[in-house]
Amino acid sequence: MRILVIGSGAREHALLLALSKDDSVTDLHIAPGGDGMTDLAVCHPEWEGAAIDVEDGAQITALATELQADLVVVGPEIPLVAGVGDALREAGIAVFGPSKEAAIIEGSKAFAKDVMNAAGVATATATRIESSEDIEAVLDAYGPQYVVKDDGLAGGKGVVVTSDRAEAAAHARSVLDAGNPVLVESFLDGPEVSLFCFVDGETVVPLLPAQDHKRAFDNDEGPNTGGMGAYAPLPWLPEDAVQRIVDEVCEPVAREMVARGCPYSGLLYAGLAWGSAGPAVVEFNCRFGDPETQAVLALLTTPLAEVLAATAQGRLAELPPLEWHEGAALTVVLAAAGYPAAPQKGDVIHGLGAVDYEGDSYVLHAGTKRTEAGEFVANGGRVLNAVARGTDVEDARAKAYELIESLELEGGFYRSDIALKAQRGEISI
Ligand code: GLY
Repeated sequence: MRILVIGSGAREHALLLALSKDDSVTDLHIAPGGDGMTDLAVCHPEWEGAAIDVEDGAQITALATELQADLVVVGPEIPLVAGVGDALREAGIAVFGPSKEAAIIEGSKAFAKDVMNAAGVATATATRIESSEDIEAVLDAYGPQYVVKDDGLAGGKGVVVTSDRAEAAAHARSVLDAGNPVLVESFLDGPEVSLFCFVDGETVVPLLPAQDHKRAFDNDEGPNTGGMGAYAPLPWLPEDAVQRIVDEVCEPVAREMVARGCPYSGLLYAGLAWGSAGPAVVEFNCRFGDPETQAVLALLTTPLAEVLAATAQGRLAELPPLEWHEGAALTVVLAAAGYPAAPQKGDVIHGLGAVDYEGDSYVLHAGTKRTEAGEFVANGGRVLNAVARGTDVEDARAKAYELIESLELEGGFYRSDIALKAQRGEISI
């Protein structure tokens, strides 16, 4: 199988690594990709002299056609919401990722609420604000914790959760000033769960549950980020929890999308809070999560390409159950100084050593660039991911932290408490 992956972050690096282990894959390409991925795939930063624009369906289709790709795997949400999957399908190319019409489940939080309400899925109550004149009146109806969301694509960074009303109002105003509507939601209590499901129409196949750490600093302090680390599976989750999420959330939503005439095909990411009444949806995303994917795929033993191809071709229901390594996996993000507000680029990374994906721990590249001198430098907010698999959370943590401690990046930082509460048994539901 010839596969083209779209994207350039550590999630796409993790996808390439999993795909490279599938014997059915003969050729791996990525557009634009990154300098840290050239050992796994041919990178295509340009097409016909122009930089790759992942939102440009015509350009991506032309590249996939030239490469004779059997399957295109779209990593980020932006091309999916822009309709790149539709352009590829119109050209007869199989795509892992939903249509533009279905990707709106991430692109518009108001649409997602409407689907959930119609499907009877538990979620926070929400009010949409389109004019700054309505901010105060809407905030009056919420609190003491305010959840204020950008109702557009914000890469996980458009949400402010705060008990400070002035901060909530200021965030709402800044989102409106940037031209997007705002969603104010009731606060959902309880630990967060990310459950990814392969979805093909009404067929839903869950992966292992994971947990992201979205705040920049230890103890969930600091600003929201795209995600600073994650682990899978979740030892504190009851045994029937995944099936409950599938039954109560993912299958009803998949059926509702079919009923609306926009069947879902691809990866449906349910971001949930597990409160006293069970799972409630915080958000849906229309693609693999980052950084949870890096931990989840580290445990997958089923060849990935066949699952992605079967989803894309409407054959998901024919596949045997997914198989997994025993134990746990963890990823820790090394971020650049100033992330998320103003990440510092250009600092040299030391300690990377030779690439080795064969052991229980390895590095994935998120935002790096290789200089002419052959050194890797920071080129994004999230720079690298240390990923490790272990017999349990404690073992995976020890290996991931040993690896990240061997890396050096001036001003770079990482959280030291990824999965620490899970390891200590401090999460209960
Ligand atoms: N883990 C957060 C996200 O992928 O949006």
